[in-house]
Amino acid sequence: MNDVTNHRKQLGANEQSKALTYERLDDRSNERTNVRYNHITKEEMKETKFIAFSTQKGGAGKTTLTVLTASYLHYVRGLNVGVVDCDFPQFSIVDMRKRDFENIKGNEQLCKQAFEQCKRLNKKSYPIKDSRPEDAIDVGKEMAQDYDLDIVFFDLPGTLNNPEVLKVVSQMDYVFCPIIADKVVMESSLVFARLVNESLIIPGNGRIKGLHFVWNMVDGREKTRLYEVYDKIIAELGMDVLETVIPNSMRFRKEGDDKELRPLFRSTVFPPDKTLIRGSNIRELSDEVLGIIKA
Ligand SMILES: Nc1ncnc2c1ncn2[C@@H]1O[C@H](COP(=O)(O)OP(=O)(O)OP(=O)(O)O)[C@@H](O)[C@H]1O
Ligand SMILES: [Mg+2]
Repeated sequence: MNDVTNHRKQLGANEQSKALTYERLDDRSNERTNVRYNHITKEEMKETKFIAFSTQKGGAGKTTLTVLTASYLHYVRGLNVGVVDCDFPQFSIVDMRKRDFENIKGNEQLCKQAFEQCKRLNKKSYPIKDSRPEDAIDVGKEMAQDYDLDIVFFDLPGTLNNPEVLKVVSQMDYVFCPIIADKVVMESSLVFARLVNESLIIPGNGRIKGLHFVWNMVDGREKTRLYEVYDKIIAELGMDVLETVIPNSMRFRKEGDDKELRPLFRSTVFPPDKTLIRGSNIRELSDEVLGIIKA
């Protein structure tokens, strides 16, 4: 039985032991992570990498995974990252940054925390710029130069009707396609991935070197069989799924607000809080992504 199946077996535990299961998962993945990915340092990222969590299916977790991975790599792993938000006209990440700054301004303790982080890391919060898809690559290149970035994340709209979006996808080094175990979502994601694979990756059009699926919102109560079936279909299409699976958890839906000070998970200014990152598999996802893009 491989690691992935093992993970999913564990995720299949009942609701009562879910927290515990995720904790174990986290520890196990960590062991694996330490062996495989922890040696990657900033110095090893020779040139700026362009990456996107992308799929045409709305609500699969593109924006959420972009922010969490970007914040983890920038504030914890010491890489320099930037984000180009081209999800016109939503611009969710640009808005998130505005809300994050507002919350910090209105809260003395957060203000102090941000100042101390800045001093300790000797760097500021990562740059986020909005852009229309047609300008996104130029904006990303300029940002990479201005801020000496290791990674630029692109948050793209969930549509391939706009040919400009596919052009941006073609200029990514790697695409990570979030998927949810739902027939409609899977069908749409497979259409997207096949298009990218067959029109860009296989013929070598553009810069893109690979597309990897990532299971998101994995529920402890779901049957593991569905995952195995889709993993098989994906493998038959010559593509692969990341080992790390992201659990379905309330913490992914919450942001900080100015009313109370509680640990922050999804923030553009701070890394996910230690108490909340445990069991979220964001560490493992970030390190697995790093292992792939460094290669
Ligand atoms: N692992 C998770 N567990 C629970 N909720 C999640 C998880 N990942 C994402 N979500 C939630 O699902 C919703 C959709 O996520 P998100 O906005 O990141 O998707 P998206 O792909 O960017 O959507 P869009 O196509 O509209 O841009 C959000 O409310 C987010 O908080
Ligand atoms: Mg989004």
